Amino acid sequence: MTDLAPLAFNPLDPAFRADPYPTYRRLRDEDPTYLSPLGFHVFTRYQDCLAVLRHPQMSSDARHARNLVEFIEQHPAAKKMADVMEQRRSFLMLDPPDHTRLRGLVSKAFTVRTVENLRPRVQHLVDELIDSVARAGAMDVVEDFAYPLPVVIICELLGVPPSDHERFKGWSRDLARGLDPDFIQPAEALERRFETLLAFHEYFRELINRRRSDPGDDVLTALIHAEERGDTLNEDELLGTCTLLLVAGHETTVNLIANGVLALLRHRDQFERLRAEPALIKSAVEEVLRFDPPVQFDGRVALADIEIGGVTVERGEQPMLILAAANRDPAEFVDPETFDITRGENRHLSFGYGLHFCLGAPLARLEGQLALGTLVRRLPAIDLAVDEPTYKENLILRGLATLPVTF
Ligand code: HEM
Repeated sequence: MTDLAPLAFNPLDPAFRADPYPTYRRLRDEDPTYLSPLGFHVFTRYQDCLAVLRHPQMSSDARHARNLVEFIEQHPAAKKMADVMEQRRSFLMLDPPDHTRLRGLVSKAFTVRTVENLRPRVQHLVDELIDSVARAGAMDVVEDFAYPLPVVIICELLGVPPSDHERFKGWSRDLARGLDPDFIQPAEALERRFETLLAFHEYFRELINRRRSDPGDDVLTALIHAEERGDTLNEDELLGTCTLLLVAGHETTVNLIANGVLALLRHRDQFERLRAEPALIKSAVEEVLRFDPPVQFDGRVALADIEIGGVTVERGEQPMLILAAANRDPAEFVDPETFDITRGENRHLSFGYGLHFCLGAPLARLEGQLALGTLVRRLPAIDLAVDEPTYKENLILRGLATLPVTF
């Protein structure tokens, strides 16, 4: 695409939100180590993103960021949140040795076997969701299909009683914005997120107490009893972990399913191919993850001056990694702009890389494969009911607000 406008990267621009890929491509082609006016580098090449993610002095702990303290001091809602989070940080935002210890305890309760055991349950839920709209001949893929599935699964995993699942949908929406930088959010949104966080923690504090005396067959009970070398999770760590599992496990998977439906409907030949060859579902889901990733950006904080891609990331700087751009780097992928469900060896960065590689990847893959595979099989006449679907405001977890379809 030829675009004579000067290269600018403003993720808050509505045109960018509607379709960020032309901007990503220009950044990667014209200025792959773009220095944002806000003072951080934006990396868009695959190898540069990978270099940051695997660098031992690139930290996941934002407390090392040079401008964070200043921002927190000026914003009361951010300050309150930082105070609460200080004790309840999830391991997503920690470095070794804390990260290693907490992730170790959680991954014990989150094995591949646990996930594979969920297969019949996920399939049952997917079928139920399709049954409930089948007669109507129309649905909003986000609201009626993509949203309810992962929230029920994550609630069931954590042992949240079914009567409380509805509450989690709203909480999850508010908390998901917590991954975006605080400085781009209005004060009211920060306040609301803070209230949600407290309500969520209160809810889990109670559930943890209940599970201590009345253990269930769920991840929360397993976490309460998880032990490694005499070490267990304390209550704050349990709360931080539960919040992480909800945020990391819900909106991301909603986006995978909805982005997948959109990509398949916009590339009808691929939809028909998958219908004819259901065994392609695994590579199809990997291609959705590469082509339109649910988590668009990742980030780190430099603990020293570090050279990446020919520029110096200064100590305290928070470089931004555009995973969605790295996934279309022609130096790594053949025909990167083509959505090809048969693509082999798909080394996309959509689940991150290295120490913090997504713990929930097997679950996300299972849900994505069953949701998309079943939809293609059961609703062969499905079609988009709008030309340009709208997107939510979230930046990091970019996702569709609605996706109306008919079938
Ligand atoms: C398609 C869906 C998903 C995508 C695209 C995704 C993506 C990611 C990415 C990019 C990271 C790395 C973040 C970083 O480098 O800082 C991550 C970490 C994580 N994800 Fe996922 N995720 C998905 C689903 C899930 C699910 C279903 C769960 C759990 C129920 C989950 C749990 C986690 C956890 C616990 C981490 C932190 C790992 C660590 O810090 O060691 N994710 N995810």
